[in-house]
Amino acid sequence: MLILAIDTSCDDTSASLVEFEEASGAKPRILSNIISSQTEIHAKYGGIVPELASRRHNELIWPVVDEAMAAVGETPLEGLSAIAVCAGPGLIGSLLVGCSFAKAVSFSKKIPLVGVNHLEGHILSVFLEGAGPRFPYVCLIVSGGHTSLYLVEGFMHYRLLGRSRDDAAGEAYDKVAKLLGLGYPGGPEIDRLAKEGDPKAIAFPRAYLPGTLDFSFSGLKTAVANFLKGHQRPYGQQMVRDVAASFQAAVLDVLIRKCQWAAKKTGAENLAVAGGVASNSALKHGMSEMARKMEMELFIPSPAFCTDNAAMIAIGGFHRLKAGEISGAGLNPQASLKL
Ligand code: KG4
Ligand code: ZN
Repeated sequence: MLILAIDTSCDDTSASLVEFEEASGAKPRILSNIISSQTEIHAKYGGIVPELASRRHNELIWPVVDEAMAAVGETPLEGLSAIAVCAGPGLIGSLLVGCSFAKAVSFSKKIPLVGVNHLEGHILSVFLEGAGPRFPYVCLIVSGGHTSLYLVEGFMHYRLLGRSRDDAAGEAYDKVAKLLGLGYPGGPEIDRLAKEGDPKAIAFPRAYLPGTLDFSFSGLKTAVANFLKGHQRPYGQQMVRDVAASFQAAVLDVLIRKCQWAAKKTGAENLAVAGGVASNSALKHGMSEMARKMEMELFIPSPAFCTDNAAMIAIGGFHRLKAGEISGAGLNPQASLKL
């Protein structure tokens, strides 16, 4: 079974061709996973400009799909078993480009169309590179748009345990990086600078929200802004490193503790962390330590599969197709699509 998957939910245009040889979906073969980033366009604004993102998706969608299809030489679109497309959540203008494109190909070539939730893609990204976790597993999605904890009881069986009440963790990274005068996206910059800073230099608050598995990061962002108000620009190099390290320690303490609570509450023995922030080096280290103490098996995808990519959408598409969940021409993207 050969699936062409498309993700245009945010600012990356991505298309991927994934082959599934086994009916179980085990051992998917990623033939291509093309990601065209728009970072350069949005960097000068310090964040994503939705209108610019959708216009760029329009320009890139054909070349990106062409490049993904080139992995199978001359195989025409008719050779596909299905097209899987991200139908939300995301920026509506961006989602519309991917969905309209996928619907047009599906209609003209008579190929089944399957809509996949972006969060389902992240949750299943841990099956791209190996056998993946055993059900039930706890999955933390930690990205620019989401910070959510799910109990994954099976393919297509997801129970929301908690989520951010305000900013997503990646959004907090990006906003703090902007306050520090760093580039966009801020996560990788803070990750790098934090290695040379003191995580105990500034005691930033940790919102544990006891009794729930929800998150809150806006107070932490405000605490960083207030701290910086007391300092003259340009900030000293070491101070920037210390703020980066102390901010990151506050984010990671909460993320790690919440995963631990979620595992205790549900009894799950496997833990997955997915989404852009999952590629953070200190997060990987901290989660591994916690998982080792809890005797849990930890799954974190390679960086290319942590950030937005279409290959993860193919996994969701495969399982929905198998279950007979064909979307058809009525598929409409939704900015706040629920999982
Ligand atoms: O999953 P993703 O590509 O897009 C969304 O669905 O949001 O995640 C992007 C987010 C950005 O906020 C970026 O700053 C963050 O992931 N990020 C990181 C790192 N790499 C990317 N955050 C912390 N450390 C990193 N190494
Ligand atoms: Zn994402």
